[in-house]
Amino acid sequence: MKNGYLAPEGFAEQLAAELGTTERYDRLFLSSAKKPLWAQNTWIEPRILSFSSVSDAAKKLRELGSLWAFYPHQLVRKGSLIQEKLPYFSQKPLPFPCKRPAAPLGSWMLLDEKTLLASPVCSSPFPHGEPHFLETKVPPSRAYLKLWELFTLIGTMPKPGDLCLEIGASPGSWTWVLSQLGARVIAVDRAPLAPEITPHSFLRQDAFALEPMQDIAWLFSDAACTPEKLLRWVEKWLSAKSNANMVCTLKFQGKTDYAIAREFEKIEGSATLHLSHNKHELTWIRINPSGKMN
Ligand SMILES: C[S@@+](CC[C@H](N)C(=O)[O-])C[C@H]1O[C@@H](n2cnc3c(N)ncnc32)[C@H](O)[C@@H]1O
Repeated sequence: MKNGYLAPEGFAEQLAAELGTTERYDRLFLSSAKKPLWAQNTWIEPRILSFSSVSDAAKKLRELGSLWAFYPHQLVRKGSLIQEKLPYFSQKPLPFPCKRPAAPLGSWMLLDEKTLLASPVCSSPFPHGEPHFLETKVPPSRAYLKLWELFTLIGTMPKPGDLCLEIGASPGSWTWVLSQLGARVIAVDRAPLAPEITPHSFLRQDAFALEPMQDIAWLFSDAACTPEKLLRWVEKWLSAKSNANMVCTLKFQGKTDYAIAREFEKIEGSATLHLSHNKHELTWIRINPSGKMN
């Protein structure tokens, strides 16, 4: 059975290369591959439906599921008319923190004037896997949106008082997010933080020279380094029996290093995803083996 995999904007060629499929509708690929790294939303086992009119298409979609997002690959006018006849859901920017929407959101597109492709269930509760947040102007860079998106998707985040170690913290927008949640942040970078960012403590040094520490509830890395260097460092923490939840950005220079990405994925309780706020990078997370993320 095939799934539909939607590539993030600007990353369709990465997903095309990963899947090696030619069944493609702009950024959407149909493939029987499992869990590609570069998909931002998965359409679970989409089906083809024939319809006779705009009302008939909307009726058939309503019979399959209640909430739908139209993927405007082509025939945009007709698709919009059908979408207008489907139940409304708010797409207002979300205030953070917010709950992950509980209702399943389907995706659909027009194949031609009388045929559509639809999945009533997709991996993301957000249209096309893209949550939009009410943005503030406080943080020194837009990297904070990665954490807002991740925490909303996984439904968990550091609690007030949790000790977080964050490497590659400059200029400080992740530190800002974590501090706003009430966590105690040890920020590490060779570069300074923006003056308005005031973590619990700041270590200005090479982050990879740091040895594993006790009592760290969450470990974060958005450091500009090779995924291989990061993997060796994470392995050091795991060997030291760290129970920390881990959130790391894997940054690729040029080609995606699939071998290293798969090495990360082999770590127990972990997953790799492409957030819509990621660039040429993936986000790797590890839930501590007790199954609880604090
Ligand atoms: C993309 S920036 C991080 C942005 C940050 N997450 C934020 O929200 O503001 C990457 C950072 O990694 C830092 N970095 C790279 N290698 C490092 C190392 N070995 N030790 C400490 N910091 C490092 C760089 O100095 C840079 O500030």
